[in-house]
Amino acid sequence: MKTKEAILKQFISQSNQYISGEELANSLQLSRTSIWKAVHELKSEGYEIDSVTSKGYRFHFPSRLSKEIIEFLLGNHSRIGRVEFKKITDSTQNDAKRLALNPINQDVLVVSEYQTQTRGRFGRQYFVPESEDFISMSLLTLPNSIFIEVSQYTLLAAAAVVKAIEKLTHIKMSIKWVNDIYLNGKKICGILSEAITDIESNQITSIIIGIGLNFSIPQEVFPKELQRKATSLFSEEIPFITRNELIAEIWKQFYRLMDTDFVKIYRQHSFVFGRRVSFMENNKIYAGIAKQVTDTGDLVVFLDDGTTKLLHSGEISLSKID
Ligand code: BTN
Repeated sequence: MKTKEAILKQFISQSNQYISGEELANSLQLSRTSIWKAVHELKSEGYEIDSVTSKGYRFHFPSRLSKEIIEFLLGNHSRIGRVEFKKITDSTQNDAKRLALNPINQDVLVVSEYQTQTRGRFGRQYFVPESEDFISMSLLTLPNSIFIEVSQYTLLAAAAVVKAIEKLTHIKMSIKWVNDIYLNGKKICGILSEAITDIESNQITSIIIGIGLNFSIPQEVFPKELQRKATSLFSEEIPFITRNELIAEIWKQFYRLMDTDFVKIYRQHSFVFGRRVSFMENNKIYAGIAKQVTDTGDLVVFLDDGTTKLLHSGEISLSKID
């Protein structure tokens, strides 16, 4: 491990505390000069490190994204073998797809500071700001034999997002079927799960789970047409956690919940049950009361004509929230 990386690791594990140059030099078996040089390099890369003569160095979790910090925080609590960071990209979904062209033996997480062609569900464009206020990331993973439907990854990812946010911030989240995370009646996060299939064997070879999360976009930055529908986790207050911490926590929860009854968490956070919903299928509009979500992610709707419909994919509209 290079000096800089070793120091960064030490800083991350003792963030917000002072560590003297001597302590660092002793524990890493390095000279004070090489410590000083590496700290200087880290600072020039944008890491925020205070230096106080009698106390030493104090590292702060940066607000910008850091592959090293995400990897450190993930520790061994995930199956992510590496994190790829892109300052700018077309779409992390596309990056993950490109990575899937070569076989992977461990999951890969792609995170990006800015996407130029963010894809939403149904091939729609998705709003992302040109700032550090958004989280865009895609996980490339191998299909898990316990899942029979790709939609189950969406349920799991949604459960992981709400659990991670609630753990780190104590802010209560809600889920709108199937993949939207809501705060105070407005969307803050969307999930796009995609599968890559081998045409010859007709088998799913990779799964890509994309998450777009409005972290701290000021409300007035959203386009006019979204003002009523979208908000951010921190839209008014200064964030008291960093995106790096939230990203790592989401994926830690994702792998932790994988072997549990995550649909229960999904159901507990769903705000559509018992509400009147409408949706379109084969150019026909249906309306009824949303009753439940099945283990594979279908929405059970009691239609006005007395029949029951299982909605497999698509979108629902609620009377007050779209
Ligand atoms: C939706 O609600 O329609 C899903 C939005 C998913 C957006 C994320 S951002 C990271 C990843 N890259 C993309 O291009 N899309 C997903």
